[in-house]
This record gives sequence, structure tokens and C-alpha cells, in this order.
Amino acid sequence: MRVLVVGNGGREHALAWKLAQSELVSEILIAPGNAGTAAVGENVPMDAEDVDGLLELALDREVDLTIVGPEAPMVAGIADRFADAGLKIFAPTASAAQLEGSKSWAKDVMSKAGVRTAQARKFDDSEEALSHMLSLPEGSFVIKADGLAAGKGVLLPDTHQEASNAIVSMIDGNAFGHAGDTLLIEDRTSGPEVSVFAFVQGEHVSAEVAACDYKRVNDGDEGPNTGGMGAYTPPEFWTPKLAAQVRSEILEPIARQMAVDGSSYSGLLYAGLMLTDEGPSVIEFNCRFGDPECEVLMPLLESDLAEICLATAEGRLAETEVNWGSGAHVCVVMTSGGYPGKYRTGMPISGLENDALVFHAGTAVNESGETVTAGGRVLVTVGSGKDVAEARDEAYSAAGEISFDGQHHRDDIAERALCSPVASAQ
Ligand code: AMP
Ligand code: GLY
Repeated sequence: MRVLVVGNGGREHALAWKLAQSELVSEILIAPGNAGTAAVGENVPMDAEDVDGLLELALDREVDLTIVGPEAPMVAGIADRFADAGLKIFAPTASAAQLEGSKSWAKDVMSKAGVRTAQARKFDDSEEALSHMLSLPEGSFVIKADGLAAGKGVLLPDTHQEASNAIVSMIDGNAFGHAGDTLLIEDRTSGPEVSVFAFVQGEHVSAEVAACDYKRVNDGDEGPNTGGMGAYTPPEFWTPKLAAQVRSEILEPIARQMAVDGSSYSGLLYAGLMLTDEGPSVIEFNCRFGDPECEVLMPLLESDLAEICLATAEGRLAETEVNWGSGAHVCVVMTSGGYPGKYRTGMPISGLENDALVFHAGTAVNESGETVTAGGRVLVTVGSGKDVAEARDEAYSAAGEISFDGQHHRDDIAERALCSPVASAQ
């Protein structure tokens, strides 16, 4: 079958890499892809948010299955458009994608489903938001843009003054475009964070898997938030008991509620959780694989990704094997110096000829045929092993072989998991 992967990051390279191992897949197109995806398929220069263009491409090239990496085309209704045209697609409908596209919509579903999440109130008027905020103790709440804000829409102000600036800039100042027209003021909770993933189709939830990512740019969780600087699986605290609890208290009730409400889910469900003293609490839902979590989950997945995605698209996920393996995987993201702020691109990359597993994120090929940097997150090295220590050594030794001008990566990815025995939950 001919498969189209939509997106251009490390996540999409990992998906394409895994699809290339499937006997069901004869050809892979990636739109728009990067220098790494060109080695596993054919890159088609088309924006991942150009739903009309993607539909035309899928029809023209007789694509059998489309797999969407990023959230924006899902929220824009790519699944509905493809389904109307009789095309198979692995992505939730626009209605179901509101789970990620609108934080207040997600709160409503969680409330109906009885799923634990921090209490929040929704505002679209800055005066009302300010007055509510001032009634709360400083540092006791977070402020979230309701809509998609490319991972930047959550603010954790420590003072009323910071919070007031945030509210005014979101609602009146358009800091996040329309995503911030409505905002949530939510109780601040604390605890370890974990990303949990499962394939979902209707009420059926596949076997789940957990990973941890690192959002801050520097070691010790210092510096600004990024798209993600590294990840590992399994988390040292992830036990069969916790997995069962997350499944029965969060994943299954959400899938059931969405089916009941007429926004039946189909695709990959990603629950961002905080393990609070009261139990696992939902920080956010996403409708896609995390990036860079996907880069450790694809090497872990033992089952055929193409078969799982096809079965989900055809409504027969319940009869399909989803078997996550048992090893450990660690990935390290190599970024351009200055990311997530300003950075230079076009830097030649050396050391890519080694055998290590390296997924490309922001890379391109220049006129001289050299692979060069083309984004903030440039490359993701992946290590595998019987435990996190072994996997981590491999990921860092791969990163050590690669260089480009201004290269930066964190040195502490998965360090906290080293002293703990590997849990056997997955
Ligand atoms: P998100 O973009 O929703 O993943 O949120 C970004 C980060 O903000 C999360 O990874 C948490 O560290 C933090 N965060 C989100 N919601 C809360 C909350 N209610 N309390 C404390 N921290 C939060
Ligand atoms: N790794 C976090 C995300 O993809 O949203």
C-alpha cells in the first residue's frame, strides 16, 4: 500500500522509519518531510497544514492510507475532508480533535466522564478574568490559552502582576492570536509528569505505553520551554498498577464519553498527566504522538504500525495486535544554538554516516548536496538497551559523533531514571 505521512519533524521521520519495516507498505510519501525522511520515502514539498493540497496529492497519487503527525491539520478537519473523498486516514475528526484544540472543550468532556483534572474557570473577558485571578493566592494557579498555541499557551505566573500581564496580553493583546481569545485559569498542581499513549477507535483503547519528555532547553530543567529536548521509556515510576489505573480512570472513560457525545475518537490519544497526591490528573490531551516521545516509542513498538493505523482507519482496531516491546529507549535532541529563540540555519552537519539510529527534525540538503541544519530542533539520536542506562549510553554516544556549528543538547536526559530498576509495566 502507498502511505502518505503528513509532517516534517523527528516524529514523522520515526513514523516513516517504522512504516518502512511493514510488509504492507510498498511506498511512502512524506509531506513535506526533511533530509532524513528522503531516505525512507519520497518527500513532497507541501505544507502540513495545506489540507486542500494534501487531499489533491492523496487523490492524484492514489494514496491508500494517510497518517497525520501534527495537530493543526486535524483541528482544521483533514480527517473529515479525506473521509468525504472516500480516503482512509489515521487522524481524529475535527470534532474529536477539539480534545487538543480547545482546552475548555476537553475540560467539559473530562468533567462528564469523571476524569481527574485540575479545576479551571473559563474567561473571554479580561475584566472578569482579572477579578477572578485576584481572588486567588499568588502562585496557586496557571493560565492557559484555550486554543492551539504551538506548546506555548501555558503560563505559570508567580505573582498577581505577572498573571495580570498574561491575561491582558492574551485576551486584549492577541499574544496567541485567536487561541488566546478564551483562557482558562486553572489550579496549579504538582507531581511527576508522564505522557501516556494509546491507539483509540470508538470505545476501544489499545495497550497503553508511557514515556517522559524534557521541555526546558537546559540541564536541570532551566531555561525556556521548547518543543522537547529528549525522552525516555519506560519511566522509572511506571508500574502495572499505575498503568491499569490510568487506563480505567482516564483513557477508557474519555473514549467512552466521546463516543456517547457523538465525537467518537479515532487515532492516537496522548494524555499528559501529573501524578498528584490524589492520583493521576490530566494536564492536557493531545491527538497525536508527542515529539520527541514518538522517537522512543517507534523503536519500542513490536507490532506493525501500518496495520494498526489501517485498522484504526477502517474501524477494526479491537481485532488488531498492539504490542509494545519491553526494552528501554532514550532519545537526545540536538538543537541549533539559540533555540527556542533566534538561531541560524544552513550549518553543514557531520558524523551522520555512522550506524546509529538518528531521526532528522530540522534538516535539509543544500545545493552542494550537503545535509544542513534547517530548524531549531535538528536531529534526534536514539539509543536502545535492556535498561535505561544502556539506552542512554547509546543515545549519547551517537550524539557525540555528530557535529554542526552551534550544536546544543542537554546532558541530563533520563539521568533521573538511572538509579531505579526498570519497571515491567509495558
Ligand atoms: P502543556 O502545554 O499543557 O503541556 O503544559 C505545559 C506545562 O505546564 C506542563 O508540562 C506542566 O509542567 C505545566 N502545567 C500545565 N498545567 C499545570 C497545572 N494545572 N499545574 C501545574 N503545572 C501545570
Ligand atoms: N513532547 C510534547 C509534545 O509533543 O507536545
